[in-house]
Amino acid sequence: MKTTTPSAVQLEDRPTQVAEIVAALTSVPRRIPSKYFYDETGSALFDAICELPEYYLTRTEAAIMRENAGDIAAEIGRGAALIELGSGSSTKTRILLDRLRSPAVYVPIDISEEHLEKSAIQLRSEYPELRIEAVAADYNFDFNLPRSVAGARTRVLYFPGSTFGNFQPEKGLAFLKRIRTLTGRRGALLIGLDWFKSTEVLEAAYNDSAGVTAAFNLNILSNVNRIAEGDFKSDSFRHYACLDEQEGRIEMYLVSNEQQTVSVGGTTIEIEKDEAILTEVSYKYRPEAFLKMADQAGFELERSWTDAERKFGVVFLRSR
Ligand code: AVI
Repeated sequence: MKTTTPSAVQLEDRPTQVAEIVAALTSVPRRIPSKYFYDETGSALFDAICELPEYYLTRTEAAIMRENAGDIAAEIGRGAALIELGSGSSTKTRILLDRLRSPAVYVPIDISEEHLEKSAIQLRSEYPELRIEAVAADYNFDFNLPRSVAGARTRVLYFPGSTFGNFQPEKGLAFLKRIRTLTGRRGALLIGLDWFKSTEVLEAAYNDSAGVTAAFNLNILSNVNRIAEGDFKSDSFRHYACLDEQEGRIEMYLVSNEQQTVSVGGTTIEIEKDEAILTEVSYKYRPEAFLKMADQAGFELERSWTDAERKFGVVFLRSR
């Protein structure tokens, strides 16, 4: 395996983050961008969410990948560059890597350089023949692909985990258009999406009985305190998650248990009792709606896979 040092770090600096947090918290309705969930504790809590009985997403997607790995690898074809957005520890990717035919290169992209390094070391021992070129970058911004990608027969962007659902639709469309510029013509996007389903199943997934999602949601306040020198008290907020059927999305909030004054990034904020701060939206697409969006971005459906209950979809889109 050839592993290059992670390069092209395009992470936002602290003042930009503080300004973003203050702007979101003082907007109407109040918000905290969901990317601030993922400090060390938040990432560990998210890993724990993925194991919860109510949170079917991760398990279902992995099962779809396992059951269809051969077919998916055949769609990807020989000599492809596989570029994964938000690779983390590349867990689901291993299912693919085991089946890919002579891949040109695997490019894991992740915001955490530390995570990338660790997982590259592990992958190196498991796939000694594979060329791996890690890129530490925030895929929400432009980033450069390694030169080796240009030599590949085709480029396949891989975006698992239904993370796409965390974009507002206009951001999602802009994201797909940007991905389309990276795949080039006759490239592909392999994407995991949580399909729209019953209120009970969806709301249970974000209100688990063990309270892990609540802890994950509340932890964002500790991260905000750290980044923006805030004085949020997490025990004066409670977790709330519900389905907005009209919008087709789960909304996650932190609701204030009392009237309180909070200082963040040098700004004082007055929060009313029962006032809610939006921390996350998680869209649950219907296949037709997603494909319409993909079409607007220059992608067409080649193939898709789902589970017996049609909970989750793994979709292979070809770029025009
Ligand atoms: C990362 N993302 C796909 C998760 C989701 O389901 O929207 C984040 C999450 N929030 C609460 N539980 C999981």
